[in-house]
Amino acid sequence: MMMSIKKIAVLTSGGDAPGMNAAIRGVVRTAVFNDIEVVGVFQGYDGLIKGDFKRLNVRSVAKILGRGGTILKSARSEEFRTKEGRAEAYRQLKEHDVDALITIGGNGTFTGAKIFNEEHGFPVMGIPGTIDNDLYGSDNTIGFDTATNTVVEAIDKIRDTANSHNRLFFVEVMGRDSGFIALRAGLATGAIAVMLPEEEMSIDELIAILDKGKASNKTSSIVIVAEGDANGGAYEVAKKVTEKYEQYEVRVTVLGHIQRGGVPSAWDRVLASRMGVSAVEGLLQGKSNVMVGVQNDREVFVSLAEAIDSKAEMNKEEIRMSRILSI
Ligand code: F6P
Repeated sequence: MMMSIKKIAVLTSGGDAPGMNAAIRGVVRTAVFNDIEVVGVFQGYDGLIKGDFKRLNVRSVAKILGRGGTILKSARSEEFRTKEGRAEAYRQLKEHDVDALITIGGNGTFTGAKIFNEEHGFPVMGIPGTIDNDLYGSDNTIGFDTATNTVVEAIDKIRDTANSHNRLFFVEVMGRDSGFIALRAGLATGAIAVMLPEEEMSIDELIAILDKGKASNKTSSIVIVAEGDANGGAYEVAKKVTEKYEQYEVRVTVLGHIQRGGVPSAWDRVLASRMGVSAVEGLLQGKSNVMVGVQNDREVFVSLAEAIDSKAEMNKEEIRMSRILSI
C-alpha cells in the first residue's frame, strides 16, 4: 500500500555517530526526489517538543557526507520520557503538518519512538545510528565501522610504546553493554585478550593468558577491556592484575569520546546513504514502527520492538578465532 506523505521530519538522538550526516543527506535527497518536503528537527526529541524545526532542501545537506557528528545536533531527552513531553511533540508535528518522523539513533531513541507511535499512532521509522552496534536486525549500525577504525588507529600507536618499553597496556573502549568494538578491535590489533560483557573472563583466566604469552617470549601486550565488562573497567582490571602479577610494567588508556567523532569511513557513508534512501521508501510503502536494517547486504525492516528487545548476537566464531590468533 503506498502512503500519501507530503512532509517528513528527521532527527538525530542519543550519542552521535560518524555517518549520521550521510543518513540525513540520504533522507533529504530521497524525500525531495519523491516530491516530499523535509524538516530537520534540532537537538533530538528536545527539539521536537520545542518545535525547533527547519526546512531542509537538497543544498542544506550538501558537503556533509564526509562530516562527523550531526548537523541536526543530538540530545538524550528527559522530557520525551514523559507522557506530557510526547503529547507536546505530537502537537508540534501536527501543527507543522508533518506526516511521518524518521529518527536516527540507538536503543534509547527507538524506545522513545516506539512508545510515541503506540500512544499517538504517528508513523515513525528508525535508522540505526550508534557506534555500539548493539541493535538487533542490522548486521552493522552506522558509526560502528568508523569507531572501530579509530580504536585500531589508537591501539596501533599504543602498541609502539608498549613494544618500546616492554609494557602491558589495558585499553578501555566504548560499547555500553556490548563488546562489538572491543572484539573487532582486538582482532584487528592482535590484542592478547579481549574482555567482553558477552563472554565473561575472570582475572585468573586473564593472568593464565598473560603467563602463557610471557612463557612464549612475549615482551609487551595489549588487553582490550570493553567498558561494560563485568570486572569493572580497565583501571579496575589493571589493579586486580597488578596485585597478583608484578612482572609487567602496567599502563591504562581509556579512549573515551575520540571514538565517537571524526570523518566517517567509506563503509559508514555507504551504509548510512543506503539506509537513508530505504527509510523514506519504507515510509512510502506504508511501513511504520520499524527500523531499517541491512542484513547480508540487503535492506530489511524489523519492528522497533524487536530491534530494542532482542539481543544483537555477537559472532562467537570471532571470539574463538581471536583466542587462537592471540597465543
Ligand atoms: O551509545 C554510544 C556511547 O558512546 C556508548 O558507547 C557510551 O557508553 C555512551 O554512549 C556514552 O554516553 P555519553 O556521551 O552521554 O557520555
